[in-house]
Amino acid sequence: CGIVGYVGSRLAIDVVVDGLARLEYRGYDSAGIALVNGKLSVQKRAGKLANLRAALAESSLVEATVGIGHTRWATHGAPTDQNAHPHTDCPAQVAVIHNGIIENFAALRAGLAEKGHILASDTDTEVVAHLIEDERATGAGLAEAMRRVCRRLEGAFTLLAVDTAEPDLVVGARRNSPLVVGRGVGENFLGSDVSAFIAHTRRAIELGQDQVVELRAHDVTITDFDGIPVSCREFVVDWDATAAEKGGHDHFMLKEIAEQPRAIADTLLGRVDEQGRLRLDEVRLPLGTVDKMIIVACGTSYHAGLIAKHAVERWAGLPCEVELASEFRYRDPILSSGTLIVVISQSGETMDTLMALRHAREQGSAVLAICNVNGSTIPREADAVIYTHAGPEIAVASTKAFLTQLVACYLMALYLAQRRRTLPDEEIAGILARLSKAPADVEAVLTTVEPVRELARTLKNQRCVLFLGRHVGYPVAMEGALKLKELAYMHAEGFAAGELKHGPIALIEEGLPVVVVVPSPKGEPTLHGKIVSNIQEIRARGAMTVVVCEDGDTAVEPYADALIRVPAVPTLLQPLVTTVPLQVFACELASAKGLDVDQPRNLAKSVTVE
Ligand code: G6P
Repeated sequence: CGIVGYVGSRLAIDVVVDGLARLEYRGYDSAGIALVNGKLSVQKRAGKLANLRAALAESSLVEATVGIGHTRWATHGAPTDQNAHPHTDCPAQVAVIHNGIIENFAALRAGLAEKGHILASDTDTEVVAHLIEDERATGAGLAEAMRRVCRRLEGAFTLLAVDTAEPDLVVGARRNSPLVVGRGVGENFLGSDVSAFIAHTRRAIELGQDQVVELRAHDVTITDFDGIPVSCREFVVDWDATAAEKGGHDHFMLKEIAEQPRAIADTLLGRVDEQGRLRLDEVRLPLGTVDKMIIVACGTSYHAGLIAKHAVERWAGLPCEVELASEFRYRDPILSSGTLIVVISQSGETMDTLMALRHAREQGSAVLAICNVNGSTIPREADAVIYTHAGPEIAVASTKAFLTQLVACYLMALYLAQRRRTLPDEEIAGILARLSKAPADVEAVLTTVEPVRELARTLKNQRCVLFLGRHVGYPVAMEGALKLKELAYMHAEGFAAGELKHGPIALIEEGLPVVVVVPSPKGEPTLHGKIVSNIQEIRARGAMTVVVCEDGDTAVEPYADALIRVPAVPTLLQPLVTTVPLQVFACELASAKGLDVDQPRNLAKSVTVE
């Protein structure tokens, strides 16, 4: 969910709705706003923010300079008008918005019902409004009421509340879900992330766990849940509002695909010294004793981890496992002080990954995070962090963040190799030199994707597309399939090409498109030969073969119904170039079907519930 709060001198409705528009990628099942000026005005609508805007245009809300707003990714309760946030007590005096899940809400709700409270929605959030109402009735101010209520809540939450009795105040609270303060002059902001207020200020404060913030026009006070004041780190956001706008592109996703060369270059910047040696001073960990790595992540970030495994094992000679965060969290992994856990997360807020991080740290393992968002929870709780410098990624489907995660993983693997002396310095310098050409390689791919677009348009009525790969091409195939599922709502699967004969080949039928990611014939001649055989096997059974291969690879030509060429790069770096046409393919196919590329149904950019 996306959350915005404002106190200042401008019209809160404008600031809050603009903030919601910038946060809509966090959830778009419903949207709502509450304003305070003498009385409380609430407006909320199911569906995208456009529905709320239309409702606001027809309503006469109070002119207020204090307000909160919410864009929802539904958890408790269907995405209806009634379940949309804000929720109020009854009669409406306090309005509350919420991100996360309150796990003990059923017990709390039963307690409220016993006391005679009437609850209008199915949500856990409404419970909070009524609990605050009860605390207010005992004479507590809004902030103190919020602290008392938070002490009774279990689960994960960011909460914002306004109260007609304290019309110059917004109170926020957080446990496990994100909340950032924006500092202005004579005005202050709250947001789930800095995009909420980046158009107004770049000064931000990250709130810690279990803290409550009181926001007034000229004052920000932060305490823990017991009311003890705490100090927090202020930072300046290193990008501005234009970085989070479409900049002439039809979709954010197209813009972000186009930004990939720059994002890779920015992630490499300053990390290789003049002698060609890797500088990763941020990784201040006892790497000498590390004997195993486990990479933990979700979604696209997990695919980056699967590719990283190849680099870590080949370059650093370190055993490496890769696991989905939601699975790792609920088993009993055998960890020791020599196990290095690497968590990869674009947003730094994914709850599954955060919980996996905590699970690992509780057992004494050091955690290194690879993350794109400064000030987010995962890097703050990790022992060390390598930041990717992709800039804000707004489209729900990850593109530029993925390529920069790969770059960060390569750097991490090479750094381990440097420290563990598993590769000669010259070889590391050679790989780094080759990596520094990756922005140009990706640029070259981007200039040649027009045929990929045309191909995608011709396949828009297909019901299923399969993706095959081997070695690092296998996670690329999985990523290509995930993109197609996310964006085009098509059945798509990525298989290891060698597994084909053990089952998936039964899926092949006349005309079924199969995208094959082919390894370099020079870099991996044996694998290349094997995959050429796989292409023949599926083609013989009627598949329409779409072959992604490097420039100059003529061996595949006779078996390809469509060819997508990428520049020749060393095998381990190949995902940087082979992923790009698959991103374009999914994006174009979804557009051809008339779907919302940036905000696919049912998804959210940052999933802050388990
Ligand atoms: C969500 C997004 C995916 C993303 C995944 C992990 O499911 O829709 O695109 O890959 O979360 O996100 P993270 O921010 O942890 O990389």
